[in-house]
Amino acid sequence: MKIAILGGTGDQGFGLALRFSKNHEILIGSRKAEKAVEASENALKILSEKKISTTIKGLTNSEASKLADVVIVSLPFEYTISTLKELKEELKGKIVVSIGVPLATAIGDKPTRVITCPQGSVAELIQEILPESKVVSGFQNICSKCLEDLDCEVNCDVLIAGNDVEAKKTVISLANEIPGIRGIDAGKLEISKFIEQITPLLIQLNIKYKLKGAGIQITGLNL
Ligand SMILES: NC(=O)c1ccc[n+]([C@@H]2O[C@H](COP(=O)([O-])OP(=O)(O)OC[C@H]3O[C@@H](n4cnc5c(N)ncnc54)[C@H](OP(=O)(O)O)[C@@H]3O)[C@@H](O)[C@H]2O)c1
Repeated sequence: MKIAILGGTGDQGFGLALRFSKNHEILIGSRKAEKAVEASENALKILSEKKISTTIKGLTNSEASKLADVVIVSLPFEYTISTLKELKEELKGKIVVSIGVPLATAIGDKPTRVITCPQGSVAELIQEILPESKVVSGFQNICSKCLEDLDCEVNCDVLIAGNDVEAKKTVISLANEIPGIRGIDAGKLEISKFIEQITPLLIQLNIKYKLKGAGIQITGLNL
């Protein structure tokens, strides 16, 4: 598959680009093509040191959206609406993965707090902006530091929510491709608000116990 990552020059998007590049063509998106190209070259260097050969290109967010089958939205919460409103046409009919958390840092407050999203969650907000895309929510509860370090066994469950059954299956199988991750179908998109709100708790635990990246695992569920 061709996977575009909007804002893939940032921490979480770059980590996902490295992890998904083993089996897929990755299109790192940015507001500036040169910045995306630089990130793609950096990713290729990291992967070649691990003897992984793959295709990663750097493009503008718009070009990456046009070419991709699956588009991951890896943007700070406060720039999600403005960015996606410009990409409605490009994203029509596509699987759009919402990984965002409405952290209160968007208004200059702490990362251990969230702000209210009128639609209920970032994922539902994205679905409202992109009514003709298949929005799937996931990857909010894994930390970029672990994703970026290819020697780090992520060892987490990834809760995945969405209203389109096939799109959700695709994203669950993508999650399962990352060693140590178990993708779990958590239900419809409306459940995303609970998934997103686990992240500030994990950030609080990272701070309190000086962890690289706390995660979650659901007990009692044998898939
Ligand atoms: N970091 C984590 O550990 C983590 C964990 C779980 C979930 N998440 C979620 O993942 C998403 C990305 O997080 P991140 O930490 O990777 O974010 P980030 O590094 O702060 O930003 C990601 C990218 O957003 C783009 N961007 C910045 N300002 C923008 C603007 N005004 N308009 C449009 N694009 C802009 C930048 O790309 P260009 O300058 O190249 O355009 C930047 O590289 C967030 O929604 C976050 O909640 C992050």
